[in-house]
Amino acid sequence: MAATPRLPAARVRTLRQRLLGWYHRERRDLPWRRTRDPYAIWLSEIMLQQTRVDVVIPYWQRFLTELPTVHALAAAPEDQVLARWAGLGYYSRARSLHRAAREVVTRWGGVFPRTPAELEELPGVGRYTAGAIASIAFGVPAPLLDGNVARVLARLFAVEASVDAPATRAELWALAEALVDPDDPSGWNQGLMELGATVCVPPPGSPRCEVCPLAGQCAARAAGRQHELPVRAPRKAPRALTWVTLAATTRAGALVLARRKPRGLFGGLWELPSAEPAADETPAAAAARVVAALGLPGRPAPRRAVEQEHVLTHRRLRLLAYRVTLPARGTAGVTIPGDAYDRVALVPPAELARHGLSSATSRLLEALSLA
Ligand code: ADE
Repeated sequence: MAATPRLPAARVRTLRQRLLGWYHRERRDLPWRRTRDPYAIWLSEIMLQQTRVDVVIPYWQRFLTELPTVHALAAAPEDQVLARWAGLGYYSRARSLHRAAREVVTRWGGVFPRTPAELEELPGVGRYTAGAIASIAFGVPAPLLDGNVARVLARLFAVEASVDAPATRAELWALAEALVDPDDPSGWNQGLMELGATVCVPPPGSPRCEVCPLAGQCAARAAGRQHELPVRAPRKAPRALTWVTLAATTRAGALVLARRKPRGLFGGLWELPSAEPAADETPAAAAARVVAALGLPGRPAPRRAVEQEHVLTHRRLRLLAYRVTLPARGTAGVTIPGDAYDRVALVPPAELARHGLSSATSRLLEALSLA
């Protein structure tokens, strides 16, 4: 562990007392704070990555009602797991979750391992999640560091280096490790996260130092630097992407959906068959190419319908939607529309909800009056 000259024992004691006192008085009553079930806590931690608490709560509750144990999750088909995740985004989380559940059952007999090192061997469980499960579910004094905790620690210790730099991450992890309370690691870790989420907030808000239990201990505040810290690396601009996407419907309202192969953007999810126009290809030609790839009988000509923009984390995706109506007969032989997909299906409206759709697809279907 790195040297910790900034951490005399008396300072550590004060920080622990103040933060734990505050957390146990002020904490939000979140549903996963009412359980010690490692499965439920693991699920909450995976869902909370990159996703706000108010969005996660109903998903977490529904998921646990339908798949209440790690055994139930391990036994569920992947399509069903993705359908329950639909709308939360970052679908690789759901695929890893599913694989990890199977591993807990096959390798650990259905009982979650308790140490961070063992937990980190599960798919989708990194150092943060391992620390969260170990400390919150099992009371193991393991540290954790996420964006909120990094901000709190960078301010508390006036860390001037970019918090995105590997050397700074290592320094922050060392601080987190030295600080975690051996008697209440769950309260300590959740207290740091809670403080970051509700008091020591990021720009454009201002940190609410007037209500912070650690204000008297905060080096950034003492130096008047609380608005300047932490220092972040500039973000890369999202990559612009344009896809042509085809809504092919029967007169009865059934819709052709294709499932993306497991890896990459929207992997494992169902969507309207899409293609990226080549450099020298018009959108209409790309739409005709999708019609051809589907093997639609009679090669109906696609009509331009709506256009939508979707801002994802690393991409700005423009969807140009085209429509075709399928002839009454001959929809049986629809083929998989290209390399990006591994399945294709004709889906009646009543069955849409059983398919894992991305939020982008759901929004597009609404705009097309198909959902
Ligand atoms: N963010 C992720 N997990 C959390 C937790 N247990 N408490 C507060 N914020 C969190």
